Amino acid sequence: MTPMLDAAERLGREELEALQLERLQDTLLHAYENVPFYRSAFDKAGLRPDDCRALGDLARFPFTAKTDLRDNYPFGMFAVEQSEVRRLHASSGTTGLPTVVGYTEQDLSMWADVVARSIRAAGGRPGHKVHVAYGYGLFTGGLGAHYGAERLGCTVIPASGGMTARQVQLIQDFRPEIIMVTPSYMLTLLEEFERQGIDPRTTSLKVGIFGAEPWTEEMRREIEERFAIDAVDIYGLSEVIGPGVAQECVETKDGLHIWEDHFYPEVVDPITGEVLPDGERGELVFTSLTKEAMPVIRYRTRDLTRLLPGTARAAFRRMEKITGRSDDMVILRGVNLFPTQVEEIVLRTPGVAPYFQLRLTREGRMDALTVRAEARADTTPGRREAAAREIARAVKDGIGVSVAVEIVDPETIERSVGKFRRLVDLRDKQP
Ligand code: DLL
Repeated sequence: MTPMLDAAERLGREELEALQLERLQDTLLHAYENVPFYRSAFDKAGLRPDDCRALGDLARFPFTAKTDLRDNYPFGMFAVEQSEVRRLHASSGTTGLPTVVGYTEQDLSMWADVVARSIRAAGGRPGHKVHVAYGYGLFTGGLGAHYGAERLGCTVIPASGGMTARQVQLIQDFRPEIIMVTPSYMLTLLEEFERQGIDPRTTSLKVGIFGAEPWTEEMRREIEERFAIDAVDIYGLSEVIGPGVAQECVETKDGLHIWEDHFYPEVVDPITGEVLPDGERGELVFTSLTKEAMPVIRYRTRDLTRLLPGTARAAFRRMEKITGRSDDMVILRGVNLFPTQVEEIVLRTPGVAPYFQLRLTREGRMDALTVRAEARADTTPGRREAAAREIARAVKDGIGVSVAVEIVDPETIERSVGKFRRLVDLRDKQP
């Protein structure tokens, strides 16, 4: 028996579903009564909140998209008086207005609970020191991790992002067991440890809790080996709460358990919107079950994954590690390509460091993609050439499209300080 689980983590699937239905009905009513956007969307679909009598009925309700949040900027999606809102966060978004989210006191407490549960599932325990290198501020990563770690009874080191040399010093001096950071920034830290002549395998760190961007099994292997730690995945998005929507358990490392007592998942066909059965890949959609300030009904995440049955937490379904977002997908001469597919290939190619970027350009009327990856310090010129050929061949064979590959000198590719932009789109910048 695993000690210290939350009551919800010990529920059976049927009990969990009964709780979900009750909470879903309350949420639909709360949204309908307090958010004009939801009232008019339900009315337009000819639905009332009490038309949801079973969990499957949710599929009849309309989706909510990021554009709906933008159209109601800044506070139009809030379901409570402004005086009840204790905190705001916002995600920058690549274009236009940020997406604003709000939390009541109870929402903040629920958020701390689900992050505490996530850190515990990752192997964190009361008394551990947690180095938080997710950015603090409007981004939900830093403060989300922070209050969750405190809730679990950990000692928080609120390092935030950036100032990489100092991060290394803090880790050396304060000796945290846990680090919470984007996987790409963990690689930047790796390099800084080596630059300072410290073997990254000798730190006090035991577990890394990585998320906020897609990463692969190959990246897990790289980080685990180079740091001698366990690397587990944490998922979340600001519109739903922030980090702590789903978490991988350290004992199984088999995908992320969705904390379904608070966030109800569906996977839909990204084109038709039809709900897909568990096990099929599609776009993840979330409905919040307990949020007060900003309930979300069938929010389209754009993240691509599939739902799997629970394992280490039997009642909670898992989501497979995310392959990418529908908006990161590059369509190259009719072939769909995700940056994570290239990550897998680059990271298993001998002589190549785990620092790479994809550059999208236009050649005549055709788009072209260049994979630019760094050689490791000791890679010979001959190995570099062979690595370029191997990557190009693996992309052609595995993904089905021709790309150019450049193996560049060490320390020439931009380094991550938080969420890393793998894909650089230069098509508009060309004459
Ligand atoms: O990135 C929240 C977060 C912070 C999660 C720290 C985990 C750790 P947003 O800035 O709103 O919120 O971005 C959400 O990031 O829709 C995914 O596309 C991506 N994402 C987040 N976690 C993962 C993950 C935070 N583990 C968007 N794997 C989401 C893949 C992830 N993608």
